[in-house]
Amino acid sequence: MSDLAKEINKRRTFAIISHPDAGKTTLTEKFLLYGGQINLAGSVKGKATARHAVSDWMDIEKERGISVTSSVLQFEFDGCCINILDTPGHQDFSEDTYRTLMAADSAVMVIDGAKGVEPQTRKLFRVCGRRGIPVFTFINKMDRDARDTFDLLDEIEKELGIATCPVNWPIGSGKEFKGVYDRKNRNIVEFADTQKGTKEGTETVISLDDEAASVAAIGEEARKQLLSEIELLDGASEEFDQEKVNAGKLSPVFFGSALTNFGVEIFLHNFLQMTSSPLPRKADTGVIDPVDKGFSAFVFKIQANMNKAHRDRVAFMRICSGKFTAGMDVFHVQGGKNVRLMQPQQMMAEERHVVSEAYAGDIIGVFDPGIYSIGDTLCTPGDKFKYAGIPTFAPEHFARVRQVDTMKRKQFVKGIEQIAQEGAIQIFQEENYGMEEIIVGVVGVLQFEVLQYRLKNEYNVEIKLDQLPYEFIRWIADRDIDLDTITGTSDMKKVRDLKGRPLLLFVNSWSIGMTLDRNEGLVLEEYSENEA
Ligand code: G4P
Repeated sequence: MSDLAKEINKRRTFAIISHPDAGKTTLTEKFLLYGGQINLAGSVKGKATARHAVSDWMDIEKERGISVTSSVLQFEFDGCCINILDTPGHQDFSEDTYRTLMAADSAVMVIDGAKGVEPQTRKLFRVCGRRGIPVFTFINKMDRDARDTFDLLDEIEKELGIATCPVNWPIGSGKEFKGVYDRKNRNIVEFADTQKGTKEGTETVISLDDEAASVAAIGEEARKQLLSEIELLDGASEEFDQEKVNAGKLSPVFFGSALTNFGVEIFLHNFLQMTSSPLPRKADTGVIDPVDKGFSAFVFKIQANMNKAHRDRVAFMRICSGKFTAGMDVFHVQGGKNVRLMQPQQMMAEERHVVSEAYAGDIIGVFDPGIYSIGDTLCTPGDKFKYAGIPTFAPEHFARVRQVDTMKRKQFVKGIEQIAQEGAIQIFQEENYGMEEIIVGVVGVLQFEVLQYRLKNEYNVEIKLDQLPYEFIRWIADRDIDLDTITGTSDMKKVRDLKGRPLLLFVNSWSIGMTLDRNEGLVLEEYSENEA
């Protein structure tokens, strides 16, 4: 195997998704602990940055000149080079959270065992589902009282529409949590509350078939219950099937407790075997193999510098094939010319550092003088292909934006269009209105404040925002439709996006149904694939 193939084959690039508080940060910290990246868990990001208020967030952004929410953590474990893409959550949940998933080869879904499937997990999962990204489930906090295991799995299957296959099975929960049962090896891995922050876990392994030893470990009652649960499980659950996992149709499920460091190592070992190294990706000219082709990458995120003194931006790209070397010239397909990738950097825990080389599967951020857009492809000069665009995700909050000082129209329009081009917000114009009033749509409400802050700081424009009641947006499949011909409900709004595509905004799902009933043949789409 060539050196290039070896490097690429050891890459594993995945995103961690969860609802806030399920334990994503804690689990990530434990992963890094195993990778030897940090000595003590807890230093990935302090709680202060994880739950920052808006003003703190701005300060952090300014200080570092880069988003705290864009970290990619890289470490080695079990002979693999692992890239973890952190998906921004909490208040700064935004379109970037969705876009990050586009750069991952698989996703790890962390679920709180007491809460089950929560709204943010559901949203992120739907994006994985649409893309067929393999999803692995880690049911966390088993050291606390958890819901019935069968119920939890049932909920995942029903709510998310994916089959589950427990790789291990919890023995009790909360105070009665005894450990997990490893189904493949028929072993009990006994729970021991390891010292917080260390990786010296004492996971004793006992064969379930050794009756005396297993009774001694978990007690007679728990063993009896485990045996009956296994019987039920073996009869009812799906068998492990790698093909189905790869297609995102079956989620291997693991149980553990990230805080006490239990079940994390078992998860990592199994996960690394079940997930794949970077796979060939579809481009407009055919499938691009990660090893056979030269360098190629696509931009999935653009981060503006919040510091007024440095108006540069960083474009984050996922390398899809070949090798990147610092200072190399590449062909920017959408721009139609060769560019040199400047100041390449990778994020490692809290720091960013300059990279001299990177391979398919890795994520790098490069200096962007304002030439890249989300979804752009870069490849080796001489090649010319485009990776499929990144879809536009439906905003969930809308506001009408007006400038306070109408004399600053030019700056206002320029600022708002640039911020929209970076993908932080989406802008819409009311049908038959000009740019006097603009409707802004965002995935996370924090983006409204970011918009206000940036327009003031970077463009010296003050704006007034009036939140609008719309919650649902639908693109109209027929791009050439005459919007005047649509009969909707009185609370519906007809708008167009930056590309002139016709859309409808609705206050509730009932109005969507009514509008569909009133307009025969009307086809509405929940999200829009970016059309170049
Ligand atoms: P997030 O990134 O998904 O938002 O979750 P995070 O890891 O920050 O965890 C949220 C809270 O849940 C934290 O408690 C964390 O310590 C706790 N937690 C995470 N994993 C486990 C687990 O396996 N068992 C138990 N019992 N708790 C867990 P906190 O009180 O909000 O913060 P802290 O004061 O502990 O730092």
